[in-house]
Amino acid sequence: MEFEIEGNRALLAKLLEVKEQIDLIRSEPPPPPTQWYPYTSVHTSFSMLAWFDKHGRDFADLIQGKSCVDIGCANAEVSFWLERAGAGRVTATDTMLIAPYWDVVVRMIRNKLGSQIGIIDADVTDWRPPEHYDVAFCLGLLYHATAPQTILERLVTLCDTLVLGTKVWRHDDPVQWVYNTQECNGDVTNWFCPTPTALRRMVERAGFRVEMMDVHGGTGDPIDMSQDARILVLATALPPKFCTLCGRMFREEGYTLCAYDQPRLGASPTMPGRDGPASPDLAAEFESVPSAT
Ligand SMILES: C[S@@+](CC[C@H](N)C(=O)[O-])C[C@H]1O[C@@H](n2cnc3c(N)ncnc32)[C@H](O)[C@@H]1O
Repeated sequence: MEFEIEGNRALLAKLLEVKEQIDLIRSEPPPPPTQWYPYTSVHTSFSMLAWFDKHGRDFADLIQGKSCVDIGCANAEVSFWLERAGAGRVTATDTMLIAPYWDVVVRMIRNKLGSQIGIIDADVTDWRPPEHYDVAFCLGLLYHATAPQTILERLVTLCDTLVLGTKVWRHDDPVQWVYNTQECNGDVTNWFCPTPTALRRMVERAGFRVEMMDVHGGTGDPIDMSQDARILVLATALPPKFCTLCGRMFREEGYTLCAYDQPRLGASPTMPGRDGPASPDLAAEFESVPSAT
């Protein structure tokens, strides 16, 4: 696959370079009791590049010189690539609660790569970082969350732009599949698989404006792992406002009243521009997501 945008081709070269170096590091066993994270995140970075390229956008414009945080970073491959790709400052976060010793392993890789990324152990559910980030990446985490909406509501407070990637169930209704303990790779930490429409509603109700949202992968059956489908979302955090009636904080475009007070005063439930169709010329493997009406 050849990318159209030269900048994306350059970032793919960086991705392959970092991958080769990390593969070499991972060819030796890590010191016990640590373990290598059993998966790779390289395909996640590749998907983001391919997605931007399909939309005629240069991924470098998103990250160049920007402070980036990689939430649920696992072995931080995305972080190491972002740093190499020109991000201003990169912070990798994950939680010992779910991934014991993840930070020891990432520190080891960081030292061997000569990288400067920050490493913070934090559960994003209640993480209140002292700094604000230009771009937050939250990739492959949401289906591990018992309270995904709470996580989106946390994310909107800590970044200007969110890149979200998660597993989706291709179905038209705004619903989620709830996993039993065996249905999703036999991994008890997997909980919910929303439809694209459900996820759009969740992201918007958390206070983001969705800029780009596309599904790629298989048929999206939630329990047939060979048909895994993923969604990528680029969203902008809306600034907080205070309801002119009750003073409650909210994030919603086009209103001066919070959602509690809008119906009482007869405010329109639709906002121009909010639910417009995604770009019409998406390539076959990226299908546009229905609007959230
Ligand atoms: C499937 S991996 C995704 C790794 C990488 N981001 C990628 O896309 O390839 C999910 C990661 O999210 C982390 N995670 C899950 N819940 C989390 C939470 N509440 N706070 C921080 N990290 C979390 C897990 O420990 C795991 O490392």
